[in-house]
This record gives sequence, structure tokens and C-alpha cells, in this order.
Amino acid sequence: MTNLVPGTKFVIEEKVMINIGILASGRGTNLQAIIEAIKEGKIEGRISIVISDNQDTFALKRAKQNNIEIEYINFKSFKNRNDYDKKIIECLKEKDVDLVVLAGYMRILSSYFIKMYKNKIMNIHPALLPSFSGLHAQRQAVEHGVKVSGCTVHFVDEGVDSGPIILQKSVEVKAADTEESLAEKILKEEHQIYPRAIQLFSQGRLVIKGRKVFIK
Ligand code: GRF
Repeated sequence: MTNLVPGTKFVIEEKVMINIGILASGRGTNLQAIIEAIKEGKIEGRISIVISDNQDTFALKRAKQNNIEIEYINFKSFKNRNDYDKKIIECLKEKDVDLVVLAGYMRILSSYFIKMYKNKIMNIHPALLPSFSGLHAQRQAVEHGVKVSGCTVHFVDEGVDSGPIILQKSVEVKAADTEESLAEKILKEEHQIYPRAIQLFSQGRLVIKGRKVFIK
């Protein structure tokens, strides 16, 4: 839709910008890739808040450097996971978040949280799911001796890394690869497909039917 702004001769393109809430526990390179993609106009959205369970995480520093609002929520201050998740949801609601992006978030979400944001939570996993779900996916791939691995962006359901798959990218695993070298190769691809998946969501192009995600 276009709109003529009174008093100017410019026609401004109106875009629907989604509010993205990011949960991160670690170094935040995926967060950085999403920040860059937004700056380059590759995602029609804004990061409204970055929430972490870890006060000293580099992800929070990256957010601060980019003037993004942050919230540290200490898990130990809550009776249980439900109460902790309720606090996170409160922060997300305050920011009117449309999409929750897990970017190296090391806690399992309660089913309360998942139901509240059904089909609106994304995660990235460093393997080609359903292979090597859970922790240390790159180590699992190297130890198994696979020739191909990669990364997967998926919607989050109540299982572990089991939700409908949005995008995947493969990388070759060489005999000489270590957990670290494979992780590095996969990470480069993560930084490409995570922003892409978020953009598809923001454009309303992801349709979930059962286990399948159709891209319109
Ligand atoms: C990535 O490898 C991602 O696949 C996994 O956690 C790691 C997060 O890395 N879920 P970073 O914090 O984004 O650098």
C-alpha cells in the first residue's frame, strides 16, 4: 500500500513491521546476523527486546551496542519454570511481540509458553533434523561419521527439536572435520537461513499444515 504524506512530495511505501522478541543465553552470533539483516532491509521487522537468563552474555552486549532494549531475568528468582516463563511472557506482551526467536537459548520452554505463542516461536538447530537433535549436535554428527550435516530452522513444539521444519541448509562433513570445524561451517549457514526464515514469517508466507511448512 502506498500513502502520500501531506506536506511532502514523497510517496512512502508502508510496510508492516513485525515485533521480534529474541531469547538468547550465549555469544549471540545469530542475534548479530538478524540485527545485520534488519539493517540491510532484509527483514521487515524490528527487534523489540532481547531477553537472557545470563547476565554476562555477549548477546546482551550486542543488543546494547545496537540500542535494542534488553532484559535479564534471573531463573533463580522464580519458584519454577512456569513462573519464570510467565515473567518472560509478560515482557514479550509488553512489547507486543509477534514472533519469538530462540537464538542459542539454553532453557526448555514450558508448555504454557509454547501454547501461548503457538506457531510463533522459531529455533535454529545445528544439524539436519530429525538427525542429531538435542545437545552437541555437531559432535554427534562427527562421531556418527555422516558425510553431510547442516542446520535447521523450525517452529517450536512441545518436543525436543521436533517442530515443523521451515528451512534447512546442508554442509559437507570431511573426514578431517572436528566438532569445532564443523560447528564453524554450520554457523555460517545458520547466519544465512535464520534471517531468511524470519523474513518469510514477517511476510506472512509460512503456512503450517500438520508437520509441513509451506512457503507461499
Ligand atoms: C547455534 O549453534 C545454534 O544452532 C544453537 O545454539 C548456537 C547459538 O549460537 N541453537 P549463537 O549464540 O547464536 O552464536
